Amino acid sequence: MPIDLLARPDEISAAIVALPALPRLDGARVRLRAIRDGEGDVDGLHEIFSDPRVMRWWSRPPMTSREEAVAYAESIREGFAQRTLFNWILADRDSDACIGTTTLYALEPRHLRADIGYALASAHWGKGLASEAVALALAFGFGALRLHRIGADVAPGNDASLRLLARHGFRLEGRLRANFNSGRELQDSLMHGLLADEWEARHAARD
Ligand SMILES: CC(C)(COP(=O)(O)OP(=O)(O)OC[C@H]1O[C@@H](n2cnc3c(N)ncnc32)[C@H](O)[C@@H]1OP(=O)(O)O)[C@@H](O)C(=O)NCCC(=O)NCCS
Repeated sequence: MPIDLLARPDEISAAIVALPALPRLDGARVRLRAIRDGEGDVDGLHEIFSDPRVMRWWSRPPMTSREEAVAYAESIREGFAQRTLFNWILADRDSDACIGTTTLYALEPRHLRADIGYALASAHWGKGLASEAVALALAFGFGALRLHRIGADVAPGNDASLRLLARHGFRLEGRLRANFNSGRELQDSLMHGLLADEWEARHAARD
């Protein structure tokens, strides 16, 4: 392994620990920001994660009560406090209202990697907003954190998510059969990955 990579787990851990808060990342139309204190984002989260369309390919069934959104908001804060989860609120840049989430999870500094997840309120689908949010999270993961790999797993029927990953250069790496209990079926996972050099090459080509 090159020396740079051998030293990097400590650098990534130090960078993560040094973050006082989840950084705010601004795009042209969306913003990734930390969850608000108290119940400020709970109604937005509840609307998104109780929508059967949003949850069709998710790893759990739709929320059936607001209390589940309260608990989810708390787990988002706790995940950042433990520095194991970077779960941003995907906000409309003008109103700052919560319209989705974008997440770097399974953060493993030792292995220089994390996984990415995203969900957008169905009223906002098809306008490239999730794509913009993913671009911000990738730039943070590969740029600021200097991760070497970001992975994603997607159910085979989730065409919008598969297209989104392809647009950002993720490669299909394999299939895990019956990997997730969505509440209605055991779903396969299509495992995807994007490496730092692939991400950098795409950016260099655009500049
Ligand atoms: C996946 C999701 C975040 C995409 O959000 P979005 O803002 O509508 O996505 P974008 O507008 O950025 O579009 C991404 C790509 O998917 C395509 N797309 C969007 N909806 C589609 C659909 N229903 N079927 C096929 N392709 C679709 C877009 O044309 C675009 O392709 P392109 O980049 O080649 O032009 C959104 O559909 C969602 O929240 N789904 C539910 C939650 C979820 O499944 N998350 C992913 C779990 S792995």
